[in-house]
Amino acid sequence: MEYNNILVEIAENIAVLTINRPDQLNALNTTTIAELSNAFKSLESDSNVRAIIVTGSGTKAFIAGADIKEFYQFNSEQGKKLSAMGHGTLFNIVENLRKPVIGAVNGFALGGGLELAMSCHFRLASDNAKLGLPEVTLGVIPGYGGTQRLAQLVGKGRAMEMVLCAKMITAEEALTYGLVNYVTTQEDLLAACKKIALKIVKNSPFAIASAIRAINAGFKDGINGYETEIEEFGKCFETEDFKEGTTAFLEKRKPNFN
Ligand code: COA
Repeated sequence: MEYNNILVEIAENIAVLTINRPDQLNALNTTTIAELSNAFKSLESDSNVRAIIVTGSGTKAFIAGADIKEFYQFNSEQGKKLSAMGHGTLFNIVENLRKPVIGAVNGFALGGGLELAMSCHFRLASDNAKLGLPEVTLGVIPGYGGTQRLAQLVGKGRAMEMVLCAKMITAEEALTYGLVNYVTTQEDLLAACKKIALKIVKNSPFAIASAIRAINAGFKDGINGYETEIEEFGKCFETEDFKEGTTAFLEKRKPNFN
């Protein structure tokens, strides 16, 4: 499919998905959300892709938020619909994707931008990045999962402070908070993400999907993460990946997962 607002490149089993509206600081309008949704689903079913990196075009922003120009005249019903659409078509999909998604935060990650980064399985940031959920300055609250995922990642107290003060933090602070795993220079960011992705793509795709489901289960209402782990652990034993992984160990060679 042809996209207008995103770019997709695939090499060495790794897809790099770039939000490409640099003149609008990659703000997430509904078209971009729809294109991202479509791209994630198609990369998930592409057997050539084993890991996905998400980043923003240009040197200034990852994503500066949901597109304010699109929703500033919305009423309550439209606001609710916008939020539900985002959750259902993009943010939950990214979080629950069977393939690992790494956020490469290369500049401002504000509002919906930080929310997309937080839906990724983990994140790296460049040293110029600024991260925050400034929605209360607009008279609204984070609506793409931010109130939940920020508290999960940094703890309730820090999330409350960041959201209530509309506090923007630096990449170094985000590292201290555990919001990002590593900080690099802007030039090194994609290479650092790819280096990690290359480690992941050598491992069993089935086990990776299982691990994502098990880790996510602990954060879902009404689901017991330990029981999910037991189920997922059991399922792994039926797979070719398990046969290959254990056989390779016993034969003292590296596994080759197809
Ligand atoms: N929605 C829509 N457009 C946005 C946007 C957003 N979230 N963030 C930036 N833009 C647009 C600006 O309107 C401007 O477009 P224009 O040239 O057509 O007027 C362009 O991107 C450049 O942004 P600008 O504000 O001129 O850059 P800056 O360097 O002065 O400031 C920010 C950068 C990120 C501090 C500032 O753009 C900002 O505060 N953005 C909104 C952040 C926000 O509240 N996000 C949460 C939304 S729910």
